[in-house]
Amino acid sequence: MSNESLANLLKEERRFAPPAALAASANVTAEAYEQAKADRLGFWAAQARRLSWETEPTETLDWSNPPFAKWFADGKLNVAYNCVDRHVENGLGDRVALHFEGEPGDTRTITYADLQREVSKAAHALTELGVKAGDRVAIYLPMIPEAVVSMLACARIGAPHSLVFGGFSADALATRINDADARVVITADGGYRRGKPSALKPAVDEALTRPGTENVRSVLVVRRTGQDGIGWTEGRDVWWHDLVDRQPEQHTPQAFDAEHPLFILYTSGTTGKPKGILHTTGGYLTQASYTHHAVFDLKPESDVFWCTADVGWVTGHSYIVYGPLSNGATEVLYEGTPDSPHQGRWWEIVQKYGVTILYTAPTAIRAAMKWGDDIPAKFDLSSLRILGSVGEPINPEAWVWYRKHIGADRTPVVDTWWQTETGSIMISPLPGVTETKPGSAQVPLPGIAATVVDDEAHEVPDGHGGYLVLTEPWPSMLRTIWGDDQRYLDTYWSRFEGKYFAGDGAKKDDDGDIWLLGRVDDVMLVSGHNISTTEVESALVSHPKVAEAAVVGAADPQTTQAICAFVILRGGADAGEEGLVEELRAHVAKQLGPIAKPKRILPVAELPKTRSGKIMRRLLRDIAENRTLGDVTTLTDSSVMDLIQSQLPAAS
Ligand code: WT7
Repeated sequence: MSNESLANLLKEERRFAPPAALAASANVTAEAYEQAKADRLGFWAAQARRLSWETEPTETLDWSNPPFAKWFADGKLNVAYNCVDRHVENGLGDRVALHFEGEPGDTRTITYADLQREVSKAAHALTELGVKAGDRVAIYLPMIPEAVVSMLACARIGAPHSLVFGGFSADALATRINDADARVVITADGGYRRGKPSALKPAVDEALTRPGTENVRSVLVVRRTGQDGIGWTEGRDVWWHDLVDRQPEQHTPQAFDAEHPLFILYTSGTTGKPKGILHTTGGYLTQASYTHHAVFDLKPESDVFWCTADVGWVTGHSYIVYGPLSNGATEVLYEGTPDSPHQGRWWEIVQKYGVTILYTAPTAIRAAMKWGDDIPAKFDLSSLRILGSVGEPINPEAWVWYRKHIGADRTPVVDTWWQTETGSIMISPLPGVTETKPGSAQVPLPGIAATVVDDEAHEVPDGHGGYLVLTEPWPSMLRTIWGDDQRYLDTYWSRFEGKYFAGDGAKKDDDGDIWLLGRVDDVMLVSGHNISTTEVESALVSHPKVAEAAVVGAADPQTTQAICAFVILRGGADAGEEGLVEELRAHVAKQLGPIAKPKRILPVAELPKTRSGKIMRRLLRDIAENRTLGDVTTLTDSSVMDLIQSQLPAAS
């Protein structure tokens, strides 16, 4: 990628100041940046003291063997105690921890005192199954309270958990069980998705027939759907209600070293075997907790927090479980899809529980845009005060729509950049401090060092693009790839000496604010110019007729690559409308310059996405280059590809 590359194509002039009242009472003010700048390690040591330690750490960072970090290494603490018991001890046992909403409409209200009993019983149950500190437990559950309880029970006894998203296949589950050498699997008969029960247990049974999974001695099964015909292996399978319910309600948590492994989480990865990202105890909890407090300005006594991610992703780990619960939050846990049984389901939930802080992904926001403004307008969303976004670059138009139609043009939007590997939020506005810019994650949080460098690892000047790097270790950083230190070094630390390479393209604007431009593999080379897929997508989405766009570079004899765009039109727009494609091409040229004008634009009904909502550009490239499709197993719905192909005009 050359330096004038990733040029500052898109000019975004809109600015939104923090609401005065929020700024006046914000948890974190501009002073935090100063403090962290003056003494970065002292700043993190102070954040660690927001937690309750059995042995307070005297050491902050041990970086004597980079890039293998140790944070707070001589401290000891229990994560579950921090997320549950200490709130009960502080007299908050009656505070609601979880408002659970099942997809069929069943609900459960779980207070911190309830959570303490449930986690204690589950911890005893795991111990009865022979799980000891250090043993790995695989968790393959729907979004039900037992998922949160299981994670905390593992943390309580020092058994690292490995969550496998419930939408993954038996194969994906087997690979992950094998790699982590899990001893117990926690699952359910099934969960509810799109209005019907969807089985999980059969995938576990199938996974456990694969080589490399022999060490699994027990499968703990939650009854969620009560569906018939789930297999049962006597001596291995045990119902949650048979085992957990009869356990004692008190359990004494044991403190573990700050560097004791807390969890392994596999990143999907577009190529190669999935990477088991290892997170440990003290540093992870310090940063998950601090960032939740700072970025969402959580006031635990009055806020209702809702992160719509699945607990099977890192977003769910850090911002459903460890961040919010360590801060004593009241939160919503919703099992299902946004459009079951109707497209206003999320907004109905916001209204019902008085959600004040909503954290979701651009893909969900764009789906809501596509379904129409009138849907959220039917609900009372006035409780909302902060909106967050995560997972991929948010197109400025989607950002503005989110603020306007969900946030009544009043709530700050925080675009938070981070990764499974970083464990917690790294780059984000602070809602009481930062004047926000639609589409930009803007500034590293206090205590975080991030910048943009060119091919030779030199920091680029303002107004230029390159690669995003992290230049100092941070408390919730991955410690390694499970069982593969070399791959950890090669993947993240070998591209630029001494710097963590995130794999994302980024640019600094004239104010020095950071804009994320997508994975570096998603940069196109067109007639000698590097153009980011994200910027062309944002330009397309800024056209009133476009709801969503996916852009790929297709091999082209004249221009190296040619820009090919797949677009989903907004409700009401007609794909057959004469001149539409020309109008969209002209619109991109006007927004970004003629070099960025797509050669082809194809209106489609759906786009291929991974289960975490990322567009699979690799498959679209296959189509654009008239190739047979590659591997489609990680798609949410592989029929999407057939649908797209059937809609295409004969290759031009
Ligand atoms: C990749 C990490 C972090 C939890 C969810 C995804 C992209 C994430 C943003 C953002 C632009 C973003 C990056 C990153 N990404 N947040 N706010 N703006 N891009 O975790 O699956 O580990 O993916 O997601 O490309 O590298 P993940």
